[in-house]
Amino acid sequence: MTTALPPTDPSDRWWEALPAGKNRLRGRAHLRTDAPELSLDGSWDFRYGTRADGSDLGEVGRIEVPGLWQFQGHGAPQYTNVIYPIPRDVPHVPDENPTGHYSRPLAVPEEWAQDLASGARLLLRFQGVDSAAKIWIDGAEIGVTAGSRLTQEFDVTEALSAPGEHRLDVRVVQWSVNTYVEDQDMWWASGIFRSVDLLLRPVGGLHDLVSVTDFDPASGRGTLQVSAYDRDGAPVAARLEVPALGLSASADGSVLEVGTVRPWSAEDPQLYDATVSTGAETVSLRLGFRRVEVDGEIFRINGERIVFRGVNRHEADPVVGRTQHLGNQDLDVALMKQHNLNAVRTSHYPPHQRFLDLCDEAGLYVICEGDFETHGFHADSTWGEDGTGAAEGPAQNPLFEQSLIERTDRFVRRDRHHPSIVMWSIGNEAASGPVTEAMVAQVRETDPTRPVIYEQDYSASYVDVFSLMYSSIEESEQIGRRALSPEYQDKLTAMLRSFALEVPDGAFANPPALSKPFLWIEYAHAMGNGAGSLKEYMELTERYPALHGGFIWEWIDHGLETTDAEGNRIYGYGGDFGERLHDGNFVADGLVLPDRTPSPALLDAKHHYSPVGLVVSAGSARLTNRYAFSDLGHLRAEVSLDAQASWQELELPPLAPGRSTELALPGGDHAAVTVRLLTRQAQGPVPAGHEVVAASHVDADRLRAAVEVTGTAPASPRPAADGGWTLGPARFDDLGRLVGLGELEVESAGVDLYRAPVDNERARTRYPLEARWRRIGLDVARRRLQELRTEGEALVVRSRIGLDGSALGADVLERWRGDGDGVEVEVTVTPVDFWPTDLPLPRIGWTFALPSAPDRVEYEGFGPHESYPDTGGGTTFARRTAALAELQVPYVFPQENGNRAGVVRAVLSGPSAPALELRAPEGLGLAVRPWSTAELDRRAHDGALRPDGRTWVTLSAALQGVGSAACGPAPLPQYVLGAREQSFRFRLAPRA
Ligand code: GAL
Repeated sequence: MTTALPPTDPSDRWWEALPAGKNRLRGRAHLRTDAPELSLDGSWDFRYGTRADGSDLGEVGRIEVPGLWQFQGHGAPQYTNVIYPIPRDVPHVPDENPTGHYSRPLAVPEEWAQDLASGARLLLRFQGVDSAAKIWIDGAEIGVTAGSRLTQEFDVTEALSAPGEHRLDVRVVQWSVNTYVEDQDMWWASGIFRSVDLLLRPVGGLHDLVSVTDFDPASGRGTLQVSAYDRDGAPVAARLEVPALGLSASADGSVLEVGTVRPWSAEDPQLYDATVSTGAETVSLRLGFRRVEVDGEIFRINGERIVFRGVNRHEADPVVGRTQHLGNQDLDVALMKQHNLNAVRTSHYPPHQRFLDLCDEAGLYVICEGDFETHGFHADSTWGEDGTGAAEGPAQNPLFEQSLIERTDRFVRRDRHHPSIVMWSIGNEAASGPVTEAMVAQVRETDPTRPVIYEQDYSASYVDVFSLMYSSIEESEQIGRRALSPEYQDKLTAMLRSFALEVPDGAFANPPALSKPFLWIEYAHAMGNGAGSLKEYMELTERYPALHGGFIWEWIDHGLETTDAEGNRIYGYGGDFGERLHDGNFVADGLVLPDRTPSPALLDAKHHYSPVGLVVSAGSARLTNRYAFSDLGHLRAEVSLDAQASWQELELPPLAPGRSTELALPGGDHAAVTVRLLTRQAQGPVPAGHEVVAASHVDADRLRAAVEVTGTAPASPRPAADGGWTLGPARFDDLGRLVGLGELEVESAGVDLYRAPVDNERARTRYPLEARWRRIGLDVARRRLQELRTEGEALVVRSRIGLDGSALGADVLERWRGDGDGVEVEVTVTPVDFWPTDLPLPRIGWTFALPSAPDRVEYEGFGPHESYPDTGGGTTFARRTAALAELQVPYVFPQENGNRAGVVRAVLSGPSAPALELRAPEGLGLAVRPWSTAELDRRAHDGALRPDGRTWVTLSAALQGVGSAACGPAPLPQYVLGAREQSFRFRLAPRA
């Protein structure tokens, strides 16, 4: 092998050439074959430089393939959401262009010699290279890639014809003409990040294969059409076998009647193993028989209307970034199935092909998306998102047309044999124009069997399914009713016009969109704590047949493991890697945390996505079968009474899809009833005994009676020597603040109107409450004692909460009563009557700190995960015990978290002090933390939070909803905490 770098031709600016790519074979299916393949994954030689012509490459080191070099010690990742990280100077890129030169020896296996002698070909296959690469063998140019997440193959037969060892060189550049069409909201990172293989293609082999299945729901019979092709696209004679169907036929494209089949669906992902063989090569397929149709405004699979309970998935990992990571693919699919998701959009590029194999097997409806986004033409670092560059953008720029059509054809060809793919999407946020229209036409030509969707064809004039992102409930209802208000019509018209398109007035009065099925291609932006109102979104799908559900944004936080300046281990986001231009923690907005721990949002989604609706009320439970195909025979039901940990079996009637029934529950005086449905048997990644859905009913009166402490002899308030007061075990200072309970010290006790803002409330959101809350200083509100007196056996404390620089504030009345064991307080908070109506309060509650730092919490209330007014689906009423750490949610960016709703009783205990019992007969929110709200508020990374040696307890009588405004609507009016008078009560008692 030579060690010399390939020769450089200064006039060849291959990374900026359009049409992009050179010498690639036409796209084809990714097939499981018995033809020999040699993996070239592993450790390669690597040199790093900053010039695409290779003129400044450094010393030779080693690098792992597949992998991104920014995660292997070269350069750094950068995160931008919309804007390009380089000047918008199409099709050019800056001279300074991070460049990785990969090389390795390459020897053709000896056992391939005979095949090669008789005419077999050698293909070099790259499954993913970001963003463009030029390839050489022994210094001779092979070709250029285009399409970072697309498979590309080159014929290298001649290049490798000489015996012995060869040298393979791959020069990868970070910036290329591809950058302009791959502007997805994710880390910019580069390299050979999916596998590389050398393939022996036998003479008479099967180069490409198309399988089309159908299932007729009326007759239960299927058909199958398999066509085999050679490399030139000419049919080849091949034999098709489907043993389970007793089928043996010619794979010549004719329609084969296969008789009665069990259809494929996400509910029952039945696959039939098949082989197609030419004698020279056998490929195996997993066939799923299903029919996908757009029937007027209804999207059907196998004849039934489908509701997508989906999520958008990027490929992300906290250590290797976008690099393929097989374990993560299995884990993602398993978690999705276990949490009742039935659909996934591969935002915004075709995933590693194995992910689709898993979707076929486990049953997920897939919108497979092309590798295409040009959002940066729509925004500018100088003036923001104003559409300035729309007219030169690829949607309307003929310069890009050929490349984009080729991209589209290529991605559809790779995956069209997957039954799980039920729609194609050409890409994301790339405006609309003749080029996107031509791309949609190309999809139809390459695969006429599936509907095509593309969100930014806002009027759905050339796509089959209408979709929008982040529509509000109100807008979605208008779409469901098929009548848009004049204001909404104007908004959509303006959106289309921002693409520099001529859009006549009235274009949305009766757009084609309103005669097509609708789905939220993105909604419920799951950044940090939230998103709120999944319940209301899913309810709309039951009311309006045209609304087919949608895809939560997004699956995973793309936080990256790193260390901050103080040495804390953190998940880094935009700006943590020295980037000048970045979009902060907007990259951390998933249903699972970076390490794939489910965030409470996934548990909330699990509930609202449940295939069985479950509402428990006094004496009965209402079940609704939301499956499209299945009855409930695979589930069983159990009930638990009075928050006991024991469960009784309930008889679950068979219930046909779409039907509801009332289930009678055991009678008796029960304060709480919880019903849950469990799987009988394992199905794919969902184990037997897995809880599908659970819900509780609490009887407020019975609960109050059970929790209330009555009949104790009242204690009287007594003045203390230090000017304060005592009342039963409680001690107050001279300002009327609770400072002790028996042996327990209490600090910082009092009314709390603040909570750390959540991501949905921060600057750059549509509802930037944080800035307003901070400006008025709700986080540092001041207290002034107005009156401290006794009234019979009660100690009455009147105080005023005031805000610096403002007359805003609230009056607080606390009425304390005690007995031998504890104290009880009734608190009334009355905000001033001129509080601005558009400025919600974060919270109305009460906070205190315990220096004894109890670290174990037993609570009776809704859990096990957190709840805010517009989240918390799937929480049930029970008695649970948790370690302090388990009550925190380590959101990548620290913010309010951990509230347990409806808590009536809790005991906090620890190694070093008496326990504290807390009772709230009407139920209160409870959050217990090892740090203060101020600490949560001040840190920028979860890993930087520092316990302060106290345990902080916050009781909430009311909380502001969390909404979705980081990239979507603010909380619905019913979840907004307007300033209002609020009373609540609780009891505190030290326990031995
Ligand atoms: C959408 C976009 C996604 C993501 C999201 C915000 O507009 O399609 O890629 O950026 O907003 O997280």
